[in-house]
Amino acid sequence: MADAWKMLEEMAPTSLRDLFASEPDRLARLSLDEAGLHFDFSKTHLSRAAIDAFLDLAESTGLAARRDAMFAGGIVNPSEGRAAEHGAERGEGAPESVARSGAFHARMRTLIDAIEAEAFGPVRHILHVGIGGSALGPKLLVDALGRDAGRYDTAIVSNVDGAALEEAVRDFDPHTTLLAIASKTFTTSETMLNARSAITWMAENGVDDPYGRVVALTASPEKAIEFGVDETRILPFSETVGGRYSLWSSIGFPAALALGWDAFESLLEGAAAMDRHFRLAPFDRNAPVLAAFVDRYYANIRKAGTRAVFAYDERLRLLPDYLQQLEMESNGKSVRLDGSPSPRATAAITWGGVGTDAQHAVFQLLHQGTHLVPVEFVAVAEPGDTLDPAHHRQLLVNCFAQGAALMAGRPADDPNRAYPGDRPSTTILAERLDPRTLGALIAFYEHRVFANAALLGINPFDQFGVELGKEMAKALDGGDDLAFDPSTEALIARAFGEDMG
Ligand code: F6P
Repeated sequence: MADAWKMLEEMAPTSLRDLFASEPDRLARLSLDEAGLHFDFSKTHLSRAAIDAFLDLAESTGLAARRDAMFAGGIVNPSEGRAAEHGAERGEGAPESVARSGAFHARMRTLIDAIEAEAFGPVRHILHVGIGGSALGPKLLVDALGRDAGRYDTAIVSNVDGAALEEAVRDFDPHTTLLAIASKTFTTSETMLNARSAITWMAENGVDDPYGRVVALTASPEKAIEFGVDETRILPFSETVGGRYSLWSSIGFPAALALGWDAFESLLEGAAAMDRHFRLAPFDRNAPVLAAFVDRYYANIRKAGTRAVFAYDERLRLLPDYLQQLEMESNGKSVRLDGSPSPRATAAITWGGVGTDAQHAVFQLLHQGTHLVPVEFVAVAEPGDTLDPAHHRQLLVNCFAQGAALMAGRPADDPNRAYPGDRPSTTILAERLDPRTLGALIAFYEHRVFANAALLGINPFDQFGVELGKEMAKALDGGDDLAFDPSTEALIARAFGEDMG
């Protein structure tokens, strides 16, 4: 293992221009088509030799065995003693887990059918409260695919700032609103407070039985019952589905409702196609694995601290937000599986935005700044609008031009006007944006995160880093008696006029 890293570290860097010149088959080897997605890794500095070294690293770190263990329902999250069975949600997993997920999906479908049959009276608005993995996935799905669906007005509220909930319900009629409380644990303080306030909003606006309009999406049904949700309106999912991997489970309820059940099934099928690709394709033709090689190359060999993702499609504007949680909460770790410190940088900081907007905001730094930032472009061949086709054409040519310009650069006598070039990018081009393709795209990112974790020997499935802040917030809110630093005490005193001393 150390040898593979050593080889990578000792390789003399070759420019992108020289790599294309010396490897005539480069584009063919480093681009591939899978599940309606075209991946192009050729504008990265992965030479043939670097890929060979990464293949050795994958071998010595046991990537294939870890992947197989994940799909077989093995304990791949040892710090919490859990499996990671998001694959089973789309039919790729241990048979008993697939059967259990199937039963949960059937329950969700039955409830959706009942809602559509107006068993709860007319429903026009879906108010989904949840945070982190219990919000970002459904929000991405509804925003990307639900624009023309028009079946329901859907609001997904995560922030505990009351302004978010207030704004969300401003145009909602409480009598035709269904409240979905999404929380794997059913203990997350922001979600519980938002849920209680949403129920109060219904009650104060004349809904006789607000709890009768509540659905719970959770892996802790007993807590939802304690909260007051009727057992028949609890949609459970398995404890072994991690929060940031949970949009395939009942957490995807608002998307399944807003987009329709067929669309939700297509989403699962697209993800399953990517699961099979990750499981079966040789690593040098495996999109998530090649993407992980790119990630590791820039983070560990070229010491890039960040990676940027630009969605060249308005429908995918929430993708960077979604990926921030998926990548940073999963692999933002400092210790390896055995508890020893990681000798290497783990997850880069994921950031990004939407093209072409970002070109007029942050691309200056990408072209001429002092930081090396590997860039990822995500675009869709088929337009999402019905305006003059010039719009979509301009969008795509801008996307492709940015990748070309980053790589080619341009010398100039005036240093202010010179572009160094040799800056890397990858491009993902979807044929069209439909539920199946989006499912495949999201699953691609999940497996890329997993492959990165395997190469680093870290656990992508726990998130203890978020706990300390939660505990301190509780203590500051009048819970446990903890001593705080003078700065924090002064802030509390200033904001609330409370003396903590
Ligand atoms: O931020 C920590 C976290 O546990 C995420 O991993 C999770 O998606 C989010 O909080 C919400 O948790 P829950 O679904 O249990 O409310």
